[in-house]
Amino acid sequence: MMPRFYLPADSLARAVGADEVALALQNVDLQRTSSRGLYWLEPLLEVDTPQGRIGFGPLTAADVPSLLEALQGDPSAHPLALGLVEELPYLKTQQRLLFARAGITRPLSLDDYRAHGGFEGLNRAVALGGEQTATTVFDSGLRGRGGAAFPAGIKWRTVRATQAAQKYIVCNADEGDSGTFADRMLMEGDPFLLIEGMAIAGITVGANYGYIYVRSEYPQAVATLREALDVARSNGYLGANVGGSGQAFDMEVRVGAGAYICGEETALLDSLEGKRGIVRAKPPIPALQGLFGLPTLVHNVLTLASVPLILAKGAQFYRDYGMGRSLGTMPFQLAGNIRHGGLVERAFGLTLRELVEDYGGGTASGRPLKAAQVGGPLGAWVPPSQFDTPLDYEAFAAIGAMLGHGGVVVADDSLDMARMARFAMQFCAEESCGKCTPCRIGSTRGVEVIDRLLAAPDQSGRDEQVIILKDLCDTLQYGSLCALGGMVSFPVASALKYFPADFGLQASEADQ
Ligand SMILES: Cc1cc2nc3c(=O)[nH]c(=O)nc-3n(C[C@H](O)[C@H](O)[C@H](O)COP(=O)(O)O)c2cc1C
Ligand code: SF4
Repeated sequence: MMPRFYLPADSLARAVGADEVALALQNVDLQRTSSRGLYWLEPLLEVDTPQGRIGFGPLTAADVPSLLEALQGDPSAHPLALGLVEELPYLKTQQRLLFARAGITRPLSLDDYRAHGGFEGLNRAVALGGEQTATTVFDSGLRGRGGAAFPAGIKWRTVRATQAAQKYIVCNADEGDSGTFADRMLMEGDPFLLIEGMAIAGITVGANYGYIYVRSEYPQAVATLREALDVARSNGYLGANVGGSGQAFDMEVRVGAGAYICGEETALLDSLEGKRGIVRAKPPIPALQGLFGLPTLVHNVLTLASVPLILAKGAQFYRDYGMGRSLGTMPFQLAGNIRHGGLVERAFGLTLRELVEDYGGGTASGRPLKAAQVGGPLGAWVPPSQFDTPLDYEAFAAIGAMLGHGGVVVADDSLDMARMARFAMQFCAEESCGKCTPCRIGSTRGVEVIDRLLAAPDQSGRDEQVIILKDLCDTLQYGSLCALGGMVSFPVASALKYFPADFGLQASEADQ
């Protein structure tokens, strides 16, 4: 008898040919699942065996006949055979809490979701009641995964304590950072988890409506979420009596229009209100006056999706992962010039070197590593000499870097860091919402200063431009209203500090 086959329907797997492989797999029992996030192996086909699922990848449609033949005899003899998928070191050494179902379940199957722990968190929250649920989130130490790492429990308590007839839950799924894809993977692959997290948040803080604000570049996530919302609603997980709580909560998906700044929470709220996304001054904070001026809990996808497990297993279970004040696990995303790109969920505290070298396998080009940009386009470029820094919010802040949303973009020694510094300023100029002067004007001046620095005919000309550039970075850092202008100095200053030669400078000049 032919065994059951599993193939991801995730958009990255599809982009590299999973649908063609599915078409070639005629007359077999095939389930389209989420992806494991071992992206360098996609399309990764898995086959049930008495020992567990064995994998083959990266597969093309042309490999299918030989694969089916191999399954009649010794599957391990096939050149693309990977053995038991869960024994692959990349996966086996991970600590998958948030992505526990990745690659295993079908995204829109409520049966699969429930068979793998789905809705245990919601049931527990209903049993505990709002006060205890908020306390559990607080005690877990969960911090926002959108970048700022603010303690989630404080926000929950703040919104819960407000007196308002209408409050909102807003999920930030704008995921604009370079090299990131964890939000997309989760929304496409495990949409009920996000819905469950938002429903728990709603009944806990007293909000009866939610929005998921998804970037327009994620059409598959939008379609999957919309279908999942219908399924959840018709099964009583949304609506007038959420999970038997006696409380009402419902939500919808809204699609952004392609602006990086609309990932900033207050610009996002403006955009949701139908306006152009412009950053609002704080205070008032969104927890008190957010969407339409009403109390609003804004969280990243991963923050909200962490909540069901925290409720199901308890705060202490979650706190047992991580280090210092960075508790729980983080789905790091390996991208750029990397051999084994993909998702690595581990407790905070492993080093950047372990991530890039052990999991990532070094550069895809095979050339020496030059740097990794951690935390998106506003993150610092970290040189290999600092790769032993543990992935922990405070440890990264101590080296002038940030973890952000966990994206890691790797570069080999052919990357020109002066070009990357210029790109950062240009990015800021293009994405600036225009509300404050340092960012609106300073970023454009920044591009010009870097151009002058690179064109300077002699040493003294270069020195002069370095002083101006550093002054400008300080002005942007301390004078900007939000982190777009405030943090663009990170990639620029780190490029200048660690790679002065790319700017035609001696080390000592760049360090002045
Ligand atoms: C320029 C800019 C872009 C941002 N983009 C995102 C984003 O794409 N996704 C996200 O979750 N947070 C983003 N943030 C952070 C949000 O402003 C906010 O901190 C987050 O939504 C809060 O959720 P959390 O508590 O779960 O982290 C961005 C911030 C800035 C300044
Ligand atoms: S720093 Fe830039 S993006 Fe942020 S508020 Fe000011 S102008 Fe807008």
